[in-house]
Amino acid sequence: MDDRLALLADAAVVSAIGLKLGRGVEYHARIDSTQDRARELATNLGTAITVPGVVVANEQLAGRGTGDRVWVAPSGTSLLASWIFPLAASARSLPGTASLLAGVAVVRALDALGVTGSMLKWPNDVQFAGRKAAGVLAHATSGGLPTLVIGIGINVHQSAEEFPEALRKRSTSLALEDGRVDRLELLSRLTRELVQVMEGEDPTALPQWRSRSTIIGKQVLVERPGGPSLSGVALDLAPDGALLIQTAYGPERILAGEVTVSGE
Ligand code: BTN
Repeated sequence: MDDRLALLADAAVVSAIGLKLGRGVEYHARIDSTQDRARELATNLGTAITVPGVVVANEQLAGRGTGDRVWVAPSGTSLLASWIFPLAASARSLPGTASLLAGVAVVRALDALGVTGSMLKWPNDVQFAGRKAAGVLAHATSGGLPTLVIGIGINVHQSAEEFPEALRKRSTSLALEDGRVDRLELLSRLTRELVQVMEGEDPTALPQWRSRSTIIGKQVLVERPGGPSLSGVALDLAPDGALLIQTAYGPERILAGEVTVSGE
């Protein structure tokens, strides 16, 4: 499939796409991490969100995942981008909630581009049949105008062999799910969907997260960082994005952890 993301190397194309998206675009053929770059830009912003609003790369040399993990993607295979949004006073700007909303934006963009079957796994994974195709990272920044930086990595063109062996069974790409997608088109559509959930009050977004969730209503095991594991039924989301589970000892709020559905 033709993939037009690298056309962003041309200043005229960047400026045309920036106008179309209504925000500035900074493109890198290769960078350590779009998230680090966007956080640096956000920290140095003045009193208004100026350009660029999204940093995008064809390749990352030190991509960041959640926790201490790295995000690895061979050059040219993935959509790797970080968007800068002004921090709002409402719950949607809490990093936990923003990650969930960004997941909704990803599944909406994939649906719109004809890639069906994507599901959301708390807190920040987009999956197809239990295999991860995308992840979201949210950071609040202060200094200058307070902002939220949303980083998203989507596996677009990878073949199975292009995933590290240890992750192969748990990973997938849009191409492996029969989704032929141009990364530039995905960037445009996803930006539109992110703006809708992050800058508008969208009452349908969290209900849509629940309906696309792989875990709500199921018996789950939660491995918490630095704490004992818990098992219970995943009940719902709290307004701050925490996962509410019903254990044998009562309800618990989970802020971080690895969730697996019991028996899967
Ligand atoms: C996760 O662990 O699931 C979150 C992965 C987020 C990866 C994206 S790729 C674009 C942006 N830049 C980074 O360094 N990380 C995020």
